[in-house]
Amino acid sequence: MSNPTSNQALNQWVNEMAAMCKPDRIVWCDGSEEERRRLTEEAVAQGILIPLNQQKRPGCYLHRSNPNDVARVEHLTFICTPNREEAGPTNNWMAPDEAYAKLGGLFDGSMKGRTMYVVPYIMGPAGSPISKIGVELTDSIYVVLNMRIMTRMGTIALKQLGESGDFNRGLHSTLDVNPDRRFICHFPQDNTIWSVGSGYGGNVLLGKKCLALRIGSYLGRNEGWLAEHMLILGVESPEGQTTYVAAAFPSQCGKTNFAMLIPPARFKGWKVWTVGDDIAWMKVGSDGRLYAVNPEAGYFGVAPGTNYKSNPNAMESVKRNTIFTNVAMTSDGDVWWEGMDGEPPAELTDWQGRPWRKGSTELAAHPNSRFTAPMANNPALSKHADDPEGVPISAIIFGGRRATTVPLVIQSFNWTHGVYFGSTMGSETTAAAVGKVGVVRRDPFAMLPFCGYHVGDYFAHWLNMQARIPNPPKIFMVNWFRKDTEGKFLWPGYGENMRVLKWIVDRAHVRIGGLETPFGWVPREEDLELSGLDISPERVAAATEVDLDEWRTELEGQGEFFKSVGDRLPRVLDMQRQLFLERATTLTKRKWNTLHHNK
Ligand code: GTP
Ligand code: SPV
Ligand code: MN
Repeated sequence: MSNPTSNQALNQWVNEMAAMCKPDRIVWCDGSEEERRRLTEEAVAQGILIPLNQQKRPGCYLHRSNPNDVARVEHLTFICTPNREEAGPTNNWMAPDEAYAKLGGLFDGSMKGRTMYVVPYIMGPAGSPISKIGVELTDSIYVVLNMRIMTRMGTIALKQLGESGDFNRGLHSTLDVNPDRRFICHFPQDNTIWSVGSGYGGNVLLGKKCLALRIGSYLGRNEGWLAEHMLILGVESPEGQTTYVAAAFPSQCGKTNFAMLIPPARFKGWKVWTVGDDIAWMKVGSDGRLYAVNPEAGYFGVAPGTNYKSNPNAMESVKRNTIFTNVAMTSDGDVWWEGMDGEPPAELTDWQGRPWRKGSTELAAHPNSRFTAPMANNPALSKHADDPEGVPISAIIFGGRRATTVPLVIQSFNWTHGVYFGSTMGSETTAAAVGKVGVVRRDPFAMLPFCGYHVGDYFAHWLNMQARIPNPPKIFMVNWFRKDTEGKFLWPGYGENMRVLKWIVDRAHVRIGGLETPFGWVPREEDLELSGLDISPERVAAATEVDLDEWRTELEGQGEFFKSVGDRLPRVLDMQRQLFLERATTLTKRKWNTLHHNK
């Protein structure tokens, strides 16, 4: 499509970027069905997409990325603020001039022989006061087709933009997918993102982690709202009351699964609705409550472990019009990954296109293999997923992947304590980013790789939000991943997390009890609905235990992290920690859990 807009700022910027990248052609994307068909055909002809069995999975395609390019690259991701201090101790920093010069050199002539696609998109429901416009220029058809699923893309975005110059300027070139020439640079002051040398997920779908979180968090601080790595769901009771919660878990720690939860049989009449599975933008509404929208329009979800038992709604969502990345393929052109239902087929083509046989010690699908599915495919999609007003949030949940220490669920005493929960979150690393897997690291608010400014200022922003929210949500922490001495998960997780969610919702409405421990409120045995669940009271107790000896170690680890934040750390957070450390050191009762009255 030829240039459809008279927007001068946009035209000028596209011309400048084209003069640098020197593409053979410029194609403006309109988001139409015809465009999808044409680009898909082209991608298939070029081997970028492999058609899957169209009887079994209509509209579905497989993409195999370069094996050196399978996850986010945190060590190659930069926040380019004028001062290093502004980016803070948790971000890599590059001076803006240096970054523009360095990446400019790489972009120079990078699109010779290629097409530059202009992808206008909206993050957030069309017309929402919270939504933002971005335009991504890319030489990757894979990016265009993914952006088409993940955002409201094309003419609709140009319409919302009108003649305004207020849009995020995203530039992406795949180059030759060489890790030595791979950089993801963010310029918060310029509302600009430059990404080179990758073709994968969060590195290149610039609306997602780059705009919606890194730039978004920066805008949110300046404008008085929150951009968070959170799912959003609604819990509907049999009486028809729907309560909305937002939950921050680090990458590959269960957001998509929790957002699509199907309550177990015991919870007849209860229903969970998905608003979003990865990102929440939250603003205070006129009634003094915190309102959340999901800026995305699709799910870029983890494939391995997804099956009809763990996440039926995800399985339904990927039945059609889905792009799979780095999964395995069956002999009849269907998809497969580790942890799918049933026995693995005898033979597969693995994620790198090599023959694979059952019993092989190698994984058939990459552990960070993903599906890109339109949210409209989700049978549990909330009717408010497209609501410009968003949904009112009654509870915020933080959670990580912790084999020890952190109990199944705990409620903060107040807002400051809840912010402390978020700021001290720890989690074992996963395959979502390049690097060692399974090491506990601090991942405050699940935002460690995504906060676009100084993390100490980010904590202060969260503390200050209290004054803006007359009717604030209650704050909780959860851990589905605690293990027994044999390394098995103590808690069954997935749909059974409804039992925890139910307590959280009831606490948010102040209609159920709990036990006050030194570190927050936990459910008593009678507060957790456990009927119909085949798990011993001892295992529940172990999953819910607050053990002061474990916590002493934990609190010391938190202290190390706080020290690294430096003098921009709000003092109240470390004072909170010190208070807990004092309690963990001096209290005589050492263990607290659901079975409190037995101890
Ligand atoms: P990103 O898309 O990377 O942000 O991940 P996510 O937070 O959406 O995580 P997702 O729901 O995709 O889950 C990641 C992994 O955790 C998958 O392998 C799931 O099977 C597993 N998982 C999710 N929920 C649970 C749970 O309740 N218990 C256990 N044991 N595993 C879970
Ligand atoms: C994550 O890593 O948190 C993701 C996947 O959701 S990516 O889009 O690659 O960031
Ligand atoms: Mn994520």
